[in-house]
Amino acid sequence: MTDSVRIAGVEVTRLRAMAAREAKRYAAARPKTRAALDAGAGAYLGDVPMHWMRDWPMPFPMLVKRAEGARLTDVDGFRIDDFCLGDTGSMFGHSPAPVARAIRRQARRGLTYMLPTETALEAGALLNRRFGPYRWQIATTATDANRFALRVARAVTGRPKVLVFNGCYHGTVDDTMIELRDGHTHARQGLVGQVEDLSLVAEAVEFNDLSAVEAALAKGDIAAILTEPVMTNSCMVLPQAGFHDGLRTLSRRYGALLIIDETHTISSGLGGYSRVHSLSPDIFVAGKCVAGGMPTAVWGMTDEVAARFAEYDAHRPSGHSGMGTTLSANPMQFACLKANLAEVMTPGAYAHMEKGAERLSAGLRRVIEAHRAPWHVVRVGARVEFICAPGPLTNGAEAATAHQPELEAAIHTALLNRGSLIAPFHNMMLVSPVTRKRQIDRLIAAFDEILTELF
Ligand SMILES: Cc1ncc(COP(=O)(O)O)c(C=O)c1O
Repeated sequence: MTDSVRIAGVEVTRLRAMAAREAKRYAAARPKTRAALDAGAGAYLGDVPMHWMRDWPMPFPMLVKRAEGARLTDVDGFRIDDFCLGDTGSMFGHSPAPVARAIRRQARRGLTYMLPTETALEAGALLNRRFGPYRWQIATTATDANRFALRVARAVTGRPKVLVFNGCYHGTVDDTMIELRDGHTHARQGLVGQVEDLSLVAEAVEFNDLSAVEAALAKGDIAAILTEPVMTNSCMVLPQAGFHDGLRTLSRRYGALLIIDETHTISSGLGGYSRVHSLSPDIFVAGKCVAGGMPTAVWGMTDEVAARFAEYDAHRPSGHSGMGTTLSANPMQFACLKANLAEVMTPGAYAHMEKGAERLSAGLRRVIEAHRAPWHVVRVGARVEFICAPGPLTNGAEAATAHQPELEAAIHTALLNRGSLIAPFHNMMLVSPVTRKRQIDRLIAAFDEILTELF
């Protein structure tokens, strides 16, 4: 709810006073960071090495000195409980010991050869054990994995379009950078240098709307539905009962593939949401944390899709496939993938994450109720989000309306000043296998202090 005096139940004057004070406090406490940025950031476009780093709400970025477990230390010496965890890249904690050991070992044996290793074969078997029997390929980013999965889907179906859900995010895959406006698919506003008509290659409908999915599929030009099991890149939207079954039934009925992007929902439990909830995608995609933070993504197709692709591949004209990148499937990735799958992504780790995330979501919920804030909390396994609007949300349009950038930015900075870092783009928090109970309790207490001031 936004009007001239309140945002999501918070008086705007009170919010702005808090935001200004917290920004000042952040800046005043970080003279070394400020000085270092002034001396060295100018080498980068926009003063940061990757422009998303400007999306944090603080007046200037935190310069990280080191990260261990679920904690960051910045150059001014602040020790921060990390619930962002590299926006999932470090969901299993920073530098998990088995992964760090694997890196040290592999560093002596070469970093990239464009040839497989015995470790690659072992990692393949582990992928099957963790996620299910797919025919795997390795990419460097989940963006790439989704792009390549879409190539395969278009190749085997001979159809041009991908169906995605309004408000989705699957990496910077051009085709998926669309949105619904006035009931029609358009390129998202704000895309840099986008000149193509994306509605020729993609269609958007709302999440949880099986009639809209069917209407789109019935046109016969959809190669694949690409979806997260839970929409995690807007304010979080859970699937309604029967939605995933419906997607599976409809995609089969209309001859489209179902690609499930588990890059974030790998937080759900061992094997990701698909395993935990018995989904059966045609192509499974995961990235970010799958190799413990080493840039790695995996995408696997069922035997049936693999057979269709082999048939296609055997008859296509010779030439570049348009899939793959030079540094992908390098031995360092496999060393880390194997270590992470075998020794880090364990049932015990997930049990700890689940328990901690339950503690966190229950604590945040208690605070919200105590302050009678018109907000709610959502959780998918180790991934927790507070949303500054009533819930549950059912689709991307509702999620966009629920998002309150000004309020969220103030809360994020205030949390950081109290020692907790959460993800910058929305209010997402991850609980890792090494996150301590006291870190969770500190975050809940900080949230309470902030809401006490806001309400
Ligand atoms: C569901 C999902 N898929 C894919 C990606 C892309 O990952 P990457 O930026 O590592 O390519 C993201 C990134 O946030 C994501 O959330």
